[in-house]
Amino acid sequence: MRVVLGVTGGIAAYKAALLLRLFTEAGHEVTVVPTEAALRFVGAPTWEALSGGRVQTDVWSNITDVPHVRLGQEADLVVVAPATADLLAKAAHGLAGDLLTNVLLTARCPVVMAPAMHTEMWEHAATRANVATLRERGVTVVEPASGRLTGADTGPGRLPEPEVLLEAALAAAGAVVPEVPGTSLEGVRPGDLAGRRVLVTAGGTREALDPVRYLGNRSSGKQGIALARAAAERGAAVTLVVAHVEIPVPEDPSVEVVRVESARQLQDAVTARVGEHDVVVMAAAVADFRPATLATSKIKKAHGAGEEDSAPTIELVRNPDILAGIVADRAASPRPESPVIIGFAAETGDESGSVLEHGRAKLARKGCDALVVNEVGEGVTFGQDESTVHLLRPGHPEVVVGPADKGTVAHAILDLVHDVIADA
Ligand code: C5P
Repeated sequence: MRVVLGVTGGIAAYKAALLLRLFTEAGHEVTVVPTEAALRFVGAPTWEALSGGRVQTDVWSNITDVPHVRLGQEADLVVVAPATADLLAKAAHGLAGDLLTNVLLTARCPVVMAPAMHTEMWEHAATRANVATLRERGVTVVEPASGRLTGADTGPGRLPEPEVLLEAALAAAGAVVPEVPGTSLEGVRPGDLAGRRVLVTAGGTREALDPVRYLGNRSSGKQGIALARAAAERGAAVTLVVAHVEIPVPEDPSVEVVRVESARQLQDAVTARVGEHDVVVMAAAVADFRPATLATSKIKKAHGAGEEDSAPTIELVRNPDILAGIVADRAASPRPESPVIIGFAAETGDESGSVLEHGRAKLARKGCDALVVNEVGEGVTFGQDESTVHLLRPGHPEVVVGPADKGTVAHAILDLVHDVIADA
């Protein structure tokens, strides 16, 4: 594979020399394109000795070769490691002042960027927006590792280890990842959802009875939020439609948060956005019923003689089944860009069938592409940090995941989404 390794001006440039070594040992042909600032950290002789090729930073040398166009066009993979905040900003805005930024504009192959910078720079709104723009365009932006930075400070911003970068880069290019002893994919996922738009619903809806009371459920929203995080990690642009949740929502430029309260608000939020998404994961616990009427003032206790024991009767009406609705809309006007739709089911076994039997029946009834079945009960799943789920897909054997933390479960669900997209 022809790899362009862009190196920008950060202290972590020395790790790129090790990454270059791993690429060449794995049999890839690497052209290193450093920036001027990168050469202040690691000089041209190092890059030339390790890559076996000349390096240049500008577009004014070697003109007859037209390197600023040719390198990008011919590359099978472009990796920028480390990527400074400056490079991310230039790439997001299409600036082309040196050879590396020219390569980024001409490349049509997978592009992987591994940012490394101080935590403040990584968390700055400008950098977050640039990362979101790049991810939306399909660039795999690897999350930086947390740990010791250049000075005495610590936090997210470290360049992950070269072995981790190699795995992430080759996976993004769909290439075989070689066995490199001691490597770990922890914290880094292949950017297999890069360029995809994923909508996740999370939390439990609340159905108002009067201005102070509501009917709710015990969903904590942890699984839906874990899904939103995991999809963003894998490169997707995520919309998180979130009802009541017990944990904070992600503050990530790749995750747009839409807050709702009731089932009907959730329905409006989902139906307005479903057409803009490639994947919809309905993890929210949506109330099936709501009070037939909403009292405009607080429902009072009766105080008249003989009325102390009386209590109001609350009449309920059915809520729309949002999942069934979006599946029916998709069936009514199928288009190649119609989304993959994943449903959730919280089931308990009973005399009429086991958890799995109810799950299979629900999958058929809802008509979605896959169903994530949770066994629920006192102290099981709801609000817990770990769960066991059964992944059901028509025509495929069941996959059991767990007991595992909800992040692991989220990635297993996204592996399933990946398979559904691949089989489409
Ligand atoms: O029918 P049941 O409530 O068990 O189905 C659960 C699945 O359907 C979940 O994916 C949930 O988000 C979705 N659902 C819905 N609208 C409802 C009830 C559930 O979209 N009114």
